[in-house]
Amino acid sequence: MSLPAVAVVGATGAVGSRVVRILEERAFPLRELRLLATERSAGARVPFRGETLVVEPTAPEGFRGVDLCFLAVPGSATSRTLAPQARAAGAVVIDKGSAFRMEPEVPLVVPEVNPASVRGHQGLLATPNCSTIQLVVALQPILRAGGGLRRVLVATYQAASGAGQGGADELAAGSRDAAHPPRVFPRPLAFNVIPHIDAFDLAGGFTQEELKLRRESRKILGLPDLRLSATAVRVPVFVGHCEAVYVETERHLTHAEARAALAAAPGVKLVDEPAAAAYPTALDAAGRDDVLVGRLRPDPDEENGLHFWVAADNLRKGAATNGVQIAELLVGEGLL
Ligand SMILES: NC(=O)c1ccc[n+]([C@@H]2O[C@H](COP(=O)([O-])OP(=O)(O)OC[C@H]3O[C@@H](n4cnc5c(N)ncnc54)[C@H](OP(=O)(O)O)[C@@H]3O)[C@@H](O)[C@H]2O)c1
Repeated sequence: MSLPAVAVVGATGAVGSRVVRILEERAFPLRELRLLATERSAGARVPFRGETLVVEPTAPEGFRGVDLCFLAVPGSATSRTLAPQARAAGAVVIDKGSAFRMEPEVPLVVPEVNPASVRGHQGLLATPNCSTIQLVVALQPILRAGGGLRRVLVATYQAASGAGQGGADELAAGSRDAAHPPRVFPRPLAFNVIPHIDAFDLAGGFTQEELKLRRESRKILGLPDLRLSATAVRVPVFVGHCEAVYVETERHLTHAEARAALAAAPGVKLVDEPAAAAYPTALDAAGRDDVLVGRLRPDPDEENGLHFWVAADNLRKGAATNGVQIAELLVGEGLL
């Protein structure tokens, strides 16, 4: 195939604008880039490879001739409308949202973890939730070195931009004016910590964000019965999700073995020199593509228990970079 024509839908959003930037940074091979959003931002101008591209309103005709389409739009209903339009025009779709992630025929891909899942795709692939991606990148080496996972417990500390540009704007407004009414978040986020992301599943008491972490990790790791549960928390940070992870492995791992496994893992950067106050923070993670891991330590009571801390840029590795890496895999394997 000649170089693909690429469309980014949601190109003015928190994730879509990063997709455009990352396509340029990684010199993704393409012959044409089309930027689509709503009427609200039609006409916006975006620099790309020394040129200025103009954002167009999204319409079915806009997908004509497109080979690869990144969907970075909020709301499952929008993805469910636009993905078939792009597919009908012949494009392979990489969706950033949650509409299709758990459908059995849709590969849910983290290239460092399950790259082979792209094979046999049927024109639609999904990139996982931001908090899931950084978790599985860090879990995979522990899973392999430890001969399996008995149990995983996670507490997340998630940035405002995880709720899109509107979330980041609301945090900025609330930081300037404590009376600013919350609309994106259920409570004021500035100077606060909120244990509530996405809707509650009232029967079980978990939120959808917590259930996504469980379901998506199971699918990506190929462990349908993995015992994994989470508490997802929004914190007043603009970019960068952090996670406190507790894992029990099947086989006892020494601290040195766990450290070596993480240090050698693709996509992981170990930042773990506590004596020098070197550990990952949200600010360290923002703007980069590695998943940062630190604070690695054995549990004092459970022989096979390990604790660690993970930080990653939710907009880059948590969404845009992961999507572009999936596209690179498709190109590399001749699957576009
Ligand atoms: N933020 C994260 O950390 C993160 C991480 C992983 C996955 N995701 C997923 O990525 C997707 C995008 O999220 P985001 O955070 O980038 O949201 P966002 O900042 O609110 O941006 C939304 C983008 O979608 C466009 N849009 C909205 N409705 C549309 C429609 N009907 N047709 C075409 N374009 C439309 C908007 O265009 P206008 O500018 O014209 O309004 C804007 O460009 C969501 O599915 C989200 O769940 C987000």
